[in-house]
Amino acid sequence: MKKILFVTSEAHPLIKTGGLADVSGSLPKAFAELSQDVRLIMPNYQALNLSGDVHTVFSLRADNRQINILETRLPDSSIPVWLVDCPEFYNFPGNPYTDGQGNPWPNNAERFSLFCRIAVICAMDKIGQNWKADIVHCNDWQTGLVPALLSLEKDRPATVFTVHNLAYQGLFPASRMVTLNIPGQLWNPDGLEFHNLLSFIKGGLAFADCITTVSPTYAQEIQTSAFGYGLEGLLRYRNNALVGIINGIDTDQWNPETDGYIPQRFNVDSLHDKTRNKTELQQRMQLPVNDSIPVLGLISRLVEQKGIDMVLDCLPEMLSMDMQFVLLGSGDKVVEQRLQTWAEAHPDKIAVTLGYDESLAHLIEAGADIFLMPSRFEPCGLNQMYSQRYGTIPIVRKTGGLADTVIDTSWETLANGSASGIVFNDANSGSLLEAIKRTLLLYRNTEQWRKMQANAMCKDFTWRRSAEEYLRLYESIS
Ligand code: ADP
Ligand code: GLC
Repeated sequence: MKKILFVTSEAHPLIKTGGLADVSGSLPKAFAELSQDVRLIMPNYQALNLSGDVHTVFSLRADNRQINILETRLPDSSIPVWLVDCPEFYNFPGNPYTDGQGNPWPNNAERFSLFCRIAVICAMDKIGQNWKADIVHCNDWQTGLVPALLSLEKDRPATVFTVHNLAYQGLFPASRMVTLNIPGQLWNPDGLEFHNLLSFIKGGLAFADCITTVSPTYAQEIQTSAFGYGLEGLLRYRNNALVGIINGIDTDQWNPETDGYIPQRFNVDSLHDKTRNKTELQQRMQLPVNDSIPVLGLISRLVEQKGIDMVLDCLPEMLSMDMQFVLLGSGDKVVEQRLQTWAEAHPDKIAVTLGYDESLAHLIEAGADIFLMPSRFEPCGLNQMYSQRYGTIPIVRKTGGLADTVIDTSWETLANGSASGIVFNDANSGSLLEAIKRTLLLYRNTEQWRKMQANAMCKDFTWRRSAEEYLRLYESIS
């Protein structure tokens, strides 16, 4: 049994901006089911959705500030969560990383370097809990300083750094090295320095005993200049310590047979029941209620990564097709505005909900026929897996985890029972449009469509295999 400290900046259902929260809320549960002694540590944001007991386990001073370590449990589990409580940094409403306009909080370097320092203190059992980690598993740039700082400790735990998205790196002016009081020996081109900037993510990439990313294909892609953001050299250099492990999904939360957010539960043997969810979705989005019109759904952060610009380019042609398009998302204000304009001009075909809405996300997964995910890059992606589980056929671009989790439909894959979606190659609107047309043709062949839905719904997206892979990795470094 390993003592695993899982260091993360978000975890569902406590707080979520994207897939990192889904992973942080579900992978530790899979570890616990495999009899591991796992804990989470995260900042005590004001917006945390806390329930049950929360109590202080330790108080200390760090970076000249008074810090409390609070302890609670990950909801619906017995997994302890340590909350780093520093009100002047974390006691603000809203998003963990940005203000209401989407601008990064100006003191993010201070906020997350403090978080990393405290994670190191906890991992080393300097808080009197008689619990010293064997493994410290860090996630994304917000936790990047942990492996760097731990590398300076004697008798330290082994470290794993998981890249959920290399596009976000935590880059700050070099002067912050001093103001954040980071030990000078970490400042060199093989360490935290990146073109004379302080790079939090390099703390993970350069110092962790092992680097993982969330799909095998993305593990290859980030070693190329097209996906590496200048870090491809370092990643190639650390190739022997780099592995891609595909994410699982929380099959309790995302289960069409038990989903409490949807009006009609269903499974692969009662696919006709999916229709009621489609009706509800059409009603809720004020679209004409008609079961024979295919509904395309999309749920996403509206950022360049997700290829929404390509979807916008396709909308004029899509309007001439027999389809309805439902989008739920938030992000880039210009994109939000453009989407809204389209929806206002074509309310019978396009429905857009801006914002974050957990229950609508479930209804779209359950009620749509087709799910669009044309990402330019996608480290793993979760919605394409949720979609398959709900018999909602995903259209995805062949990149990262999308390439690893969706099998394109062809005569061959239909014959061998593996076809579970539509995969297209090029990141341009022409290719996406072709893929949409191909999907709508397949949709008209009900027998084939049912087969694809059944293939998709029967796939195993549970965490177990991936969690076991992580454990083997932990074993190899500790
Ligand atoms: P990423 O982490 O890059 O945003 P993922 O596919 O890994 O992409 O995970 C996104 C998660 O966030 C999914 O659980 C998705 O349903 C959810 N999500 C994204 N946008 C919204 C939204 N506007 N409302 C509700 N859930 C959303
Ligand atoms: C990131 C990636 C996404 C991945 C998620 C969880 O946000 O963009 O592809 O699924 O992390 O690993």
